[in-house]
Amino acid sequence: MPSSTQTLPTVDAVPRHIAIIMDGNGRWAKRRFLPRIAGHKRGVEAVRATVRACSELGVQYLTLFAFSSENWRRPLEEVSFLMGLFLDVLEREVERLHRNDIRLQVIGNRARFSADLVARIEAAEARTANNQGLVLTVAADYGGRWDILHAVNQLLAAGHDPQQPVQEADLQPYLSLGQAPEPDLFIRTGGEQRISNFLLWQLAYAELYFTETLWPDFDRAALEAAMHSYRCRERRFGRTSEQLDPALRRLD
Ligand code: IPE
Ligand code: IPE
Ligand code: MG
Repeated sequence: MPSSTQTLPTVDAVPRHIAIIMDGNGRWAKRRFLPRIAGHKRGVEAVRATVRACSELGVQYLTLFAFSSENWRRPLEEVSFLMGLFLDVLEREVERLHRNDIRLQVIGNRARFSADLVARIEAAEARTANNQGLVLTVAADYGGRWDILHAVNQLLAAGHDPQQPVQEADLQPYLSLGQAPEPDLFIRTGGEQRISNFLLWQLAYAELYFTETLWPDFDRAALEAAMHSYRCRERRFGRTSEQLDPALRRLD
């Protein structure tokens, strides 16, 4: 896929690729005097609603940050719960995704996952591999720095001459999401305004949208609000406003 820093990407009214940091599960639970894990459970419903809405609204790629490489620092109980939840959700939801023509893929470092979880991930990816609808990517044990280093190491392992400078195009095939267009719209729920080591490379020219809405409360209306904000942005990719095709300015 072309890089936004090398060529001008196509800009459509509906973002082709949305990437979301699903944050605020713990606070959602805390406000209800519930344990944090209740927020994670409830967050699965928001995932379902968002996947459905993206499919219906014509988004082609949806990438969800489910577990960061730093989330291993959380209490063991919470980490184990999240791993168990991931396993359950994969088991329960894959047929539904498949029926809806959705292709599921998981990005991140699988080395620290249990053998069960790795097997389940591989089975889910294989089951949905030929689907033609929404591409749903779940980032789990994912870190943006890990992604870049992993790509460089893969490139070298594939025989890239270490004396030759590395070009963007050399690295592209080895990066997570190398086959997808770069995210057009980045959403973070839960009020924090940071990237938290998500897609550091791929977000180079994404439009950033932050909302106070906690992830378990995120729904179709919240997604539409983010997409409306996106439509009002002027994506210049380094150029001046005057250089843009007026039809592409999207100032509605
Ligand atoms: C995001 O919600 C889910 C994961 C990181 C797995 P949090 O658990 O970070 O919720 P807050 O930020 O504590 O409210
Ligand atoms: C980022 O959320 C990771 C996921 C949503 C999976 P965190 O809640 O872990 O982020 P920080 O640590 O507050 O930046
Ligand atoms: Mg958080």
